Amino acid sequence: MKSNSFPRTRRPLRCLLVAGARPNFMKVAPLLREFRKHPALFRTRLVHTGQHYDEMMSDVFFQELEMPRPDVHLGVGSASHAVQTAWIMEAFEKVLPREDPDWVVVVGDVNSTLACALVAAKMTPPVRVAHVEAGLRSRDRTMPEEINRILTDAIADLLFTTSADADRNLRSEGVDRRKIHRVGNVMIDTLQRFKRRSDASAVLSRLGISPPYALVTLHRPSNVGEARVLRRILSAFESLAREVTLVFPAHPRTRKMLSALNPMHLWKQAGNGIHLVEPLGYLDFLHLQKGATLILTDSGGIQEEATILGVPCLTLRENTERPVTVTHGTNYLVGKDPRTILRAARQVLRHGAKKARPIPLWDGRAASRIVRVFARLRSNR
Ligand code: UD1
Repeated sequence: MKSNSFPRTRRPLRCLLVAGARPNFMKVAPLLREFRKHPALFRTRLVHTGQHYDEMMSDVFFQELEMPRPDVHLGVGSASHAVQTAWIMEAFEKVLPREDPDWVVVVGDVNSTLACALVAAKMTPPVRVAHVEAGLRSRDRTMPEEINRILTDAIADLLFTTSADADRNLRSEGVDRRKIHRVGNVMIDTLQRFKRRSDASAVLSRLGISPPYALVTLHRPSNVGEARVLRRILSAFESLAREVTLVFPAHPRTRKMLSALNPMHLWKQAGNGIHLVEPLGYLDFLHLQKGATLILTDSGGIQEEATILGVPCLTLRENTERPVTVTHGTNYLVGKDPRTILRAARQVLRHGAKKARPIPLWDGRAASRIVRVFARLRSNR
């Protein structure tokens, strides 16, 4: 449907978008852009919960992804899961009557996603909730994100999915199929839009690195929360660094744990090839992903980005909520046993990536499909 074919008769649909943590920003950016192309149809406002608040965990993404400043900033910051979720809920509940949205649109699986969905669903009268990236399931309920996904989907009125497995998960949980819309992957919209621009990044020379290198990220509490587990994973990195340079932009929590274990000192002394660096902005990180021989990660989104970029990815987890990246993409689930990690890494260094098959609808147009669904809803009011 062309934008000018949208009906223009009724008042704009009021959509309140929520972003809170780093992996939300690249999902919200294309949505905001698409909604705001149609000001006669939608009044779109952005709430930033402040779950992530650093320059490098938040601000840089707004600049690089050309996102407007949030209309509302809740400024909650870090705390335990219960306290952080409660703070977001308390602050968001005050915002909702003022904003008076028809829809609250949440993305992903972070605490901000669940907190805002829950507040909206319990308003009197309830505010309808749309969940973008619905239906992903790792089946691992020790992951806080899995709890956030299940609960958000249970109360959402509209569920936008990235893949057929997500549709099946929702159907098996009893979600009415009329609420489910498979639209593709908004994170890939952002990847496609900025892929070329990231070529200009000077991150390699700034960090003093030249290819070949492997890119490493690690931040899951299950991997970095316990010294014993983290030490074992680091031992695999230390062995691998004898064969290929490792670039390791460390999440704040990971850096704290590393400081406690103090391998940086050892790594510097040994002069081995592990470059531990601060978290990077979107364009620098994308540049590093594109040029990497191999990625080792426990992130969700990076499994998807690596798949689209055709870069082999070893996921240091026992499960993934994104199985399509394994069946269609370049992702391998390797767990956290150092020997298995090393074996898999060597295999990839020797033989390269498995070939990725295209994933339907991961084509850079997911946000426009989502906006079309809202446009239809508006015209059916
Ligand atoms: C959150 C998400 C996770 C996502 C990750 C990406 C949940 C449950 N988890 O986890 O799904 O993959 O973001 O980063 O929502 N910190 C800073 N600066 C910041 C933000 C955090 O220093 O801007 C530090 C804080 O000290 C905090 C720690 O990082 O203790 C963790 O932050 P938090 O927002 O609680 O969760 P993440 O682990 O980042």
